[in-house]
Parts: sequence; structure tokens; C-alpha cells
Amino acid sequence: MVVRRWTPGDGVGQVTALLHRAYAKQVGMGLRPLAGRQDEQVTLRRLSSGECYIAVCVPGAGTLSAEAGEQIVGVIILAEKEPDEGPPFFMRAGVLAFSQFAVDPWLQGAGVGGKLLGTVEARAVELGSTELALSMAEPDHGLRDYYLRRGYRVVGVWKWPYTNYNSLVLSKRLVGGEGGC
Ligand SMILES: CC(C)(COP(=O)(O)OP(=O)(O)OC[C@H]1O[C@@H](n2cnc3c(N)ncnc32)[C@H](O)[C@@H]1OP(=O)(O)O)[C@@H](O)C(=O)NCCC(=O)NCCS
Repeated sequence: MVVRRWTPGDGVGQVTALLHRAYAKQVGMGLRPLAGRQDEQVTLRRLSSGECYIAVCVPGAGTLSAEAGEQIVGVIILAEKEPDEGPPFFMRAGVLAFSQFAVDPWLQGAGVGGKLLGTVEARAVELGSTELALSMAEPDHGLRDYYLRRGYRVVGVWKWPYTNYNSLVLSKRLVGGEGGC
């Protein structure tokens, strides 16, 4: 498995289907995350608007047969430019945000998400930011705890117009802060 930048040559359909599978758990909770239902056009717009990284299983690397071809198993976007107004915290100096973070359910819990998160955290530092933020569905307490264990803290609440829930805004100090949560 390797993490690399997404390019327009990578399958938008593959990413869209992966997002739908990954967010099915939240959909099953009665939530309506955009990533759980967006079409390929929306996926393409979102992937193109920021720095997108994908985790890819490479044929012959022991996971898949060569016939299966490259398989996208994870995705994350750094600094996506959203058409809708975002949380004020995202606009603060030194803050970058990530979004559309997902790992295919069959591979969850194996560290792929950790690698994608580590990639955007390192990239955010490289770009000079001191905080890396995100928003997530408030009712998903397991997900909130996932971020808390990784040094993120709750910094606010936001309501996106296309969802039916409040989102928690979380952020992690990347340099110079006290760290922790
Ligand atoms: C959040 C997400 C991207 C994390 O990806 P991941 O590859 O599972 O992440 P990791 O393997 O690095 O860590 C998973 C954690 O869950 C634990 N875990 C164990 N078995 C698991 C399983 N079957 N499924 C999920 N997590 C499992 C791991 O031990 C690890 O725990 P830790 O926090 O103590 O380290 C992934 O769960 C996902 O796609 N979720 C649905 C979409 C979503 O909610 N995205 C975030 C929106 S803000």
C-alpha cells in the first residue's frame, strides 16, 4: 500500500464508490454526510479543489492479484475549497483543514487512515500551518474518540447546509503548541 497524490487519471468512480462504502456506517445511523451520497461530478470537483492524497494497493504487493489492477483504498483532501461557508475556525491564520477522509471498510483498522492523516499533517507543517482542523458528524462518538486519541481537540460546532446533523470542529496543534487534547 502506498500513499500518493491523486491525479485526474485516477478513477473518480472508484473514489466515489469507496466514499459511499466508508460512510455507509454513518448513513446507517440516520445521518446524511455528503460523502455518503455524492455523485462522481461532486467527487471530481472536491478532489480537484484541494491537495488530494490516495492510498493505493499495488498489484503484486501481496494484497491483490495483478489482474485486479491498482485499487484505491483510502482518500483524504487537504485544504479543499468548499462552495459553502465553513466554520470560522477554518479561516484563522495558520489553520488548514482536511476533509473527505475515508478508508475502504475491508481495510479499516489496519493503519491506512493513520498513514493518510500523517501525510496531511506533515504536509500542513511543510506549508507553514500551525493547526490542522476538520469537521465531523457530532453523533459519531467513536469517530470523535479516534481523533481525540490522535491529539485533536474540539474547538467548535458547525452546521453544514447539506447535512442533517451538527458537526464538531476539531483541530490539532502542529508546532509550538502544548499538544494533546
Ligand atoms: C476514520 C477512518 C478514515 C480511519 O481509517 P482506518 O484505516 O480505520 O484508521 P487506522 O487503522 O489508522 O485506525 C483505526 C482505529 O480503529 C481501530 N479499529 C480496530 N478494528 C477496527 C475496524 N474493524 N474498523 C475500524 N477501526 C478499527 C484501530 O485499532 C484504530 O484504533 P486506535 O485509534 O486505537 O489506533 C475510517 O474508519 C473511515 O473511513 N471511517 C468512515 C468515514 C469517516 O467517518 N471518515 C472521517 C470523517 S471526518
